[in-house]
Amino acid sequence: MSGDLAGLRVVVSAGPTYEDIDPVRFVGNRSSGKMGFAIAAAAARRGATTILVAGPVALDTPAGVERRDVRSAAQMHAAVMAALPADVYVGAAAVADFTPAAFAEGKIKKTPGDEGLVLELVRTADILADVATHPRRPRLVVGFAAETGDLEANALDKLARKRVDMVAANRVGVAGSGFEADDNTLHVLDAGGGRVLGPAAKTTLADALLDLVAARLR
Ligand code: PMT
Repeated sequence: MSGDLAGLRVVVSAGPTYEDIDPVRFVGNRSSGKMGFAIAAAAARRGATTILVAGPVALDTPAGVERRDVRSAAQMHAAVMAALPADVYVGAAAVADFTPAAFAEGKIKKTPGDEGLVLELVRTADILADVATHPRRPRLVVGFAAETGDLEANALDKLARKRVDMVAANRVGVAGSGFEADDNTLHVLDAGGGRVLGPAAKTTLADALLDLVAARLR
């Protein structure tokens, strides 16, 4: 395989996770998978052996990519860990931070007079932080940060707290970037400083981000 990422193993996570409450209901994050799938497609096109761990999304598998489908944060955690060792990990998935404390085997019924339902949630494992502190840590660990404000401050906090090498922060909750849109703007921060990629198509940004990854590995 030729390309500037030939010989490298790249693991990408993409899409949301769904945390089941009962057989018919779940809680989850918003994500179409477009950003992560674009990164996996670009990595494979550039010659990397590419493993894509995908939450529930309606996207075709990019050419040359090995896809592993999962549903929950726990399944995504297990699939990412099983894909190590790798040279690069890119965590573009919108992993649910909380999951129901218990799964109800039967559909939870509405009873007359009920005013609501109190759901107990517990924290999920942090996949990105666990990859970054793994004994077989990839040479480069890239996280995403989905933020509604203070992009760079929040991304810097994630860079340090999760011990990752690079963070790509994007604004969510506005049209034309973040979840579901075809376009995005990435504020990429690493120890060397920051730069803004875009606004541009997610497919274009995927290559621009991998240019930074390739430069860090040289
Ligand atoms: O899929 P699209 O519709 O194209 O949208 C793309 C996107 C907005 C989902 C994507 O660009 C993005 O920002 N992904 C990260 C979303 C997110 O959950 O961000 P966060 O700030 O909550 O998490 C920070 C980082 O920790 C992320 O790399 C996330 O994958 C990781 N994480 C979070 C929680 C957890 N339990 N495990 C994790 O690995």
